[in-house]
Amino acid sequence: MCGIVGYVGHRSSIDVVLGGLRRLEYRGYDSAGVAVMCGDGVLRTSKKAGKLGVLEAELAAHPLSVGGTGIGHTRWATHGGPTDANAHPHLGDQGRLALIHNGIIENFAELRAELVAAGDTFTSETDTEVAALMVGRLYHETGDLREALRRCVARFEGAYTFLAVHEAEPGRVVGARRNSPLVVGLGDGENFLGSDVAAFVEYTQRAIALGQDQIVDITATSVTVSDFDGREVVAEPFRVAWEAGAADKGGWSSFMRKEVSEQPVAVANTLLGRVNDGDVAIPELTALGDDLLRGIHRIVIIACGTAAYAGMVAKYALESWVRVPVEVELSHEFRYRSPVINADTLVVSVSQSGETMDTLMAVKHARAQGATTISVCNTQGATIPRESDAAIYTHAGPEVAVASTKGFVTQIAALYLLGLHLARVRGTLSSSEREHLTVELLAVPDKIAVVTSEAERVAQLARWMADTRSVLFLGRHVGYPIALEGALKLKELAYIHAEGFAAGELKHGPIALIEPGLPVFVVVPSPRGSSVLHSKVVSNIQEIRARGARVIAIAEAGDAAVLPYADEVLRIPLADPLCEPFMQVVPLQIFALELAHAKGLDVDQPRNLAKSVTVE
Ligand code: F6R
Repeated sequence: MCGIVGYVGHRSSIDVVLGGLRRLEYRGYDSAGVAVMCGDGVLRTSKKAGKLGVLEAELAAHPLSVGGTGIGHTRWATHGGPTDANAHPHLGDQGRLALIHNGIIENFAELRAELVAAGDTFTSETDTEVAALMVGRLYHETGDLREALRRCVARFEGAYTFLAVHEAEPGRVVGARRNSPLVVGLGDGENFLGSDVAAFVEYTQRAIALGQDQIVDITATSVTVSDFDGREVVAEPFRVAWEAGAADKGGWSSFMRKEVSEQPVAVANTLLGRVNDGDVAIPELTALGDDLLRGIHRIVIIACGTAAYAGMVAKYALESWVRVPVEVELSHEFRYRSPVINADTLVVSVSQSGETMDTLMAVKHARAQGATTISVCNTQGATIPRESDAAIYTHAGPEVAVASTKGFVTQIAALYLLGLHLARVRGTLSSSEREHLTVELLAVPDKIAVVTSEAERVAQLARWMADTRSVLFLGRHVGYPIALEGALKLKELAYIHAEGFAAGELKHGPIALIEPGLPVFVVVPSPRGSSVLHSKVVSNIQEIRARGARVIAIAEAGDAAVLPYADEVLRIPLADPLCEPFMQVVPLQIFALELAHAKGLDVDQPRNLAKSVTVE
């Protein structure tokens, strides 16, 4: 949650900071603010409740004559509502110090009482103001911004990234990080800080990911990283794979629409370099050693939301190909029970952002019990891959829209690659079976493109249904998580009641919800995969149709069995049945997006949500 940007260099800091905030706005968008060193040597702040556009309008109306140092913040409220007063930055040292924060200071009430007793007054309801006032006091004692921040973080419990600037130290921004992300962009005569690389990829592709419990101190020409004990640490730069401009809309009506259309390329990039001569080898897994992978007796996939549905899809493939039990569990549920994990458990976390706090904590928990951990992640420099034994990056490019689309399909692709890698190492599939599956996987991008090219038909359907108040989604086998994903997309984008069910559950309860006119999407399994499953789902369609439901079937090309009973049939190209989810999900993404459009909603920034859930 919350996006953070910092800059020191030769450009106008306000332009760099606002540009960075624009690209990080998906992290939180209920208020925004900046603090910049002005030409007259005074530190000035401007902050506003509402989306970034409100702050931009304010700055256009009251421009600041800025220099080359600044910080900016876009907020997802935790402590205190989204008001001007609660927006960041917060001030300390009589307004000479400005500080921004991502995370939660869990012991803020106790620290606040201490500061009030010492004579400080608060102007907001936030936990962050505690940090601003404390760093301000410590700056008085130490006369050094880095040292003040270092001493201050020793008092905090919780998760945080802070950035601070002080009027007496123009040309310097100092940051600290625990459990929340912070990445440094290395420029030429300029340096950047951001919650993720999207903040600065327009200017530089060289970056350093700050480690856990580290402090960073940047000027235009230097970057110093130290630990919380003040010892300098050597930080290895990496090259950002994302292109400049990848985090822009590129002429599309929304980031989400752009990202839906990018799915073929995103999947192709995820497969690139990992499928050769009919076999899969993931170079990032080499360091783990084949013996370790052969010794795995159980796989546990941990993730939240859409990423968990990707895990559910992959469970079917992994169990079938690798012949080990696979469980999929929501990270927050896994973390707070006593899961049976040991050295022969492989825990695979799935997280587009690589920052989801629930998943991060679950990974740490699994590691502490001796499990081997692999992260499936889209974001270089993110915390979860750094905390894992190995990482498989999905190479989807930046996903800016809050609702995950290309993140989802590339997560399935990466998990399938993992399955085929394990099947080769463990000898559970013959080489001809593996070759068949790699051919099928390599064909997926073109088949997704066929479905995205039929977006207008789905859009029309969504426009007709703009007044719908409730929609159900049914699926079976790999189609079940697709039904859950379709329902989630509709809830989060169009704010419509939507439920996904396993079609086999229908008669165990959900059928009571069916009433005349109720739209029900049914993800129909391929008859080539299992004719039994297929005919059972066709029977389900008949059952709900008999009770008046309006059936929209998603079925493979040529499946005529659904025609007599479905009101609409959305077709997907023929594929291996385990590869069908890549295509089946696409009309559901487009439907949710277009229905939200039809209702005049903001599809990129749905209400109450933020893309990276960096607090538990
Ligand atoms: C839904 C959505 C969320 C995320 C979930 C996990 O469209 O985007 O459900 O999938 O918050 O996020 P990551 O993958 O970043 O861990």
